[in-house]
Amino acid sequence: MPGSDQHPFPHPCLLGLSGLSPDDLRTLLFTARSLADVSQRSIKKVPSLRGKVVANLFFEDSTRTRLSFTLAAQRLSADVIDLTESGSSVSKGETIADTVSTVVAMGVDALIIRHKAAGASQVAARAAGPGVAVINAGDGKHEHPTQGLLDIYALVQHLVEHETNAARREKLEHFDLTGVTLAIVGDVVSSRVARSDIAGFTALGAKVIAVGPPTLAPRSLTALGCEVEHDLERVLPHVDAVNMLRIQFERHDAGGALAKGESSSKSSPSFPSLREYTHSYALTRERAAMLRPHAAVMHPGPMNRGIEIAGEVADGPRSVVLDQVTSGLCVRMAALLLCIQAAEAAERAAASLV
Ligand code: CP
Repeated sequence: MPGSDQHPFPHPCLLGLSGLSPDDLRTLLFTARSLADVSQRSIKKVPSLRGKVVANLFFEDSTRTRLSFTLAAQRLSADVIDLTESGSSVSKGETIADTVSTVVAMGVDALIIRHKAAGASQVAARAAGPGVAVINAGDGKHEHPTQGLLDIYALVQHLVEHETNAARREKLEHFDLTGVTLAIVGDVVSSRVARSDIAGFTALGAKVIAVGPPTLAPRSLTALGCEVEHDLERVLPHVDAVNMLRIQFERHDAGGALAKGESSSKSSPSFPSLREYTHSYALTRERAAMLRPHAAVMHPGPMNRGIEIAGEVADGPRSVVLDQVTSGLCVRMAALLLCIQAAEAAERAAASLV
């Protein structure tokens, strides 16, 4: 089984994939693979985190990430507590740092935080202090590291199933993505998923192409290590997967008008109208037919059917959208387990210096 001679994971906090080494990424992914079978058992639980407490702090809406962190913690036998902005003292103006210190004072071992502000997870990690694992579940336009990991995990599973060459299949099973090309299409500039995907996929050897209109996929994205293209149809025949991004209406100034399908030409001249966007960048049935036979269609969710992706493509045979959701569970089990173990090791090391 690839990955049995694993490199130790030294990070108590997983705030982004940028800066993680290929060995760190592979340790997370191999651990996820080793935990995947827990969900197939009749009793879907192992005792690895028995007696530990995981706190979910979600200050922005979520379906997939929040539920799968909860389930991941429960499958490892941890206790889970939940806090959302509405109904908590955050709605009375309490800061992130004070909220985190308050939750930590109750004796938690890990904090999962989602917030609309980029950098919120760094603030939380500083406030939590040593001995507490902090995992970023999406902070503004910055990063969403477990989404990046689950995207890698799900795509590798798909490519391994379709690869007939034994040597290439073995490389993929070791999460060596040399020769793999991923297109990330749409509102790349607003996307924390895109930032985590670019960091993770390129660290493992893949080529990543950001595709969209110049306002949503600007040339400056090349600083992250990806290529940039504006013509989707030129890219489609050459990739192994397309990851279709939702337009992040809530992160655009003219979000209200755009969400209603109104032209943005007056209120947001840097953003095309929805009709124009869909005409050039939606993954329609005709465009999906330009993909190579093995290529996968991905979407982090939530999807806006009929805008960035046609319903029949989202539900079609190339779609790995629900495999991405399934992969999130073992990836988040791995992130919780490794970060909590690293936090305990860091605390022991700090105590031995006193
Ligand atoms: N992909 C993702 O983060 O989905 P949620 O917003 O539903 O968690």
